[in-house]
Amino acid sequence: MNNGLRCPVCGQMLQQQNGLRCKNSHSFDVAKEGYVNLLLASRMKSKTPGDSKEMVAARHRFLESGGYAIFAEKLAELCTELAKDKSGPIHILDAGCGEGYYDSVICQTLQQLGLEYQLIGFDISKAAVRLAAKRKIPSTTFAVASSFEIPVADGWADVILNVFSPFAGNEFLRCLKPGGTLLYAVPTAEHLMGLKQVLYEKPYPNSEQPIAYAGFEQKQEHTAQGQLVVCDGLVQDLFAMTPYYWKTPKEGGCRLSACEKLETAIGFRFVVYKKRNGKK
Ligand SMILES: C[S@@+](CC[C@H](N)C(=O)[O-])C[C@H]1O[C@@H](n2cnc3c(N)ncnc32)[C@H](O)[C@@H]1O
Ligand SMILES: [Zn+2]
Repeated sequence: MNNGLRCPVCGQMLQQQNGLRCKNSHSFDVAKEGYVNLLLASRMKSKTPGDSKEMVAARHRFLESGGYAIFAEKLAELCTELAKDKSGPIHILDAGCGEGYYDSVICQTLQQLGLEYQLIGFDISKAAVRLAAKRKIPSTTFAVASSFEIPVADGWADVILNVFSPFAGNEFLRCLKPGGTLLYAVPTAEHLMGLKQVLYEKPYPNSEQPIAYAGFEQKQEHTAQGQLVVCDGLVQDLFAMTPYYWKTPKEGGCRLSACEKLETAIGFRFVVYKKRNGKK
């Protein structure tokens, strides 16, 4: 079966044959967890690119606690609508999939509704992809790869998910079918305001300026928002998932360490973009 993956060296399709192999005999092992590493050592700027094992573990604990379940449910609902419009299996590509939490909720929902799918999730962090592969989600392939060199065939994807990972417009356009959909998650103005109020003297809301991306047409947006109460170790896990973890002055970090319970607004906007006609 065409698994959608292409060779990162020569661009030929990869076939299952003692691991994955292209017709030019470039071969890639499948790790015992079931993922494949398609990130070429020559293209790596660091030995362990992307989120570290510790960051991935914190994200995994937090997401599995259900703190962001409303976002996973909204994504699953949006993928369901798109899958219902298709006659065959919907092809979903999760760019920067992390430890695969959203993929597991989306696929479980599609399965329960009897909707066919094929999902490829990739991330530049091997630690993240290893955890994602351990989820053993049916009809899903996980790979270590970069959004700026996606090892997926041109026009393979009906939908690309981009949840807080780097935006690679040209590669997204290449991988999307004509008329394909990009679901792009951005924070609402008040997302994590309760956390920022502990960290900073003067917290600012997130910008909600619409962003135009060349080759994409913005169609709609869907918002999921709520109030979250986080206790004990999960407060630090949530902090470790955010960009504030890297740029908060020490006093802010200390105030948060003393917090046993944190209450905050959370909200994602899922912006729906369609690939414009005529774009490759
Ligand atoms: C904020 S996390 C989001 C992960 C996941 N989408 C989620 O929401 O749970 C950002 C992810 O982007 C990954 N990442 C960073 N640079 C990347 C790149 N060039 N290509 C693919 N993934 C990348 C990181 O390793 C990390 O897992
Ligand atoms: Zn090859």
